[in-house]
Amino acid sequence: MKAEKIKDNIYWVGGIDWGLRNFHGYITQRGSTYNAYLIMDEKITLIDTAKYYLVDEMLERISSIVDPAKIDVIVSNHVEMDHSGGLPRLMEICPNATLITSPNGEKGLKAHYKKDWDFHVVKSGDSFSLGKRSLNFLLTPMVHWPDNMLSYMPEEKILFSNDSFGQHLACSERFDDQYPLDIIMVEAKKYYANIVLPYSAQVQKELAEASKLDIQIVCPSHGIIWRSHIPEIVECYKQWSSNQTVKKALIIYDTMWNSTKSMAYAVMDAFSEKGYATRLMDLNETHISDIMTEVIDSEYICVGSPTLNNHLLPTVAEFLTYLKGLSPKKRKAVAFGSFGWGGQSVSQVESYLSESGFDVEATFKHQYVPDKKYLKQLTEELKTKIS
Ligand code: FEO
Repeated sequence: MKAEKIKDNIYWVGGIDWGLRNFHGYITQRGSTYNAYLIMDEKITLIDTAKYYLVDEMLERISSIVDPAKIDVIVSNHVEMDHSGGLPRLMEICPNATLITSPNGEKGLKAHYKKDWDFHVVKSGDSFSLGKRSLNFLLTPMVHWPDNMLSYMPEEKILFSNDSFGQHLACSERFDDQYPLDIIMVEAKKYYANIVLPYSAQVQKELAEASKLDIQIVCPSHGIIWRSHIPEIVECYKQWSSNQTVKKALIIYDTMWNSTKSMAYAVMDAFSEKGYATRLMDLNETHISDIMTEVIDSEYICVGSPTLNNHLLPTVAEFLTYLKGLSPKKRKAVAFGSFGWGGQSVSQVESYLSESGFDVEATFKHQYVPDKKYLKQLTEELKTKIS
């Protein structure tokens, strides 16, 4: 395994996680990469590392250019262990390396690894000379941990953006003009929806600061490197971080004996007849992380659950908990479901949606099996409430 050239004397030396299918609950159908970057300058520098089980792969790639023991500087843009997991091994190999990180980065790395490495703590606006080139630092706290920062190399116009602009995508191609752009964009959208979305206000500040930089290459810490489609991904980040939606309704449900399912179809009919794009999603068949990819630009989120033992179904509760944590804003909602007796599930769904900050515009609950007449009534009533 060899290093891959980004520009003269700048290399990708990361690890490819071909088999990764679950990243703390986020389904990664296409695997991932942990991108580390080697800069051969007067000070040999490594930006970020890889997950612990891909450190050997990273070291092999570094060794194709230089003995890893000769690394002088390591930049840790982010403490999370998919990027810092290689630090303990590396710091054993090059114990005198300077470790550049943010104030919260130092705190986080010490808390994770219990080591007193040679930390060089930077703040926004600080610069560090590598020789012919330099790195400027911009702290971006809570995109998406308190420690995150960006490193910018003005001489080469490269932004090392860490998690921002990343995608969970394992492939041999490294650049955005070498791989199908539609797949890169879907994975970038899924990444934003499942990782970055709660921190959209901070993303907007980051975008404003980054817009002052002259950038030709964006090197994220996951997936493809951006060099030909930077305006497109920046525009997507602007839209996603400002909670812009399109005329689309998601109908998400679980069902016991198909009664809530038939209500889901009636809800979908109302939106279709009002000219909305619709997505019907059975929680037994669609993973919640894939649903989030659709949530990110949907105007309506409609959720249905029957009542089981006085509660909504666990599958629906799981989704609503995940949704609330990821905190999309400015959405409208509908709650619905069937019941035999009790019938608490619909008000519980409604509470979750209200607590998520959504405007719940309609609720529908029906005892036992809805007939065609009721389902038609539901569709017609909902049509009058869709704004
Ligand atoms: Fe890819 Fe927040 O780590």
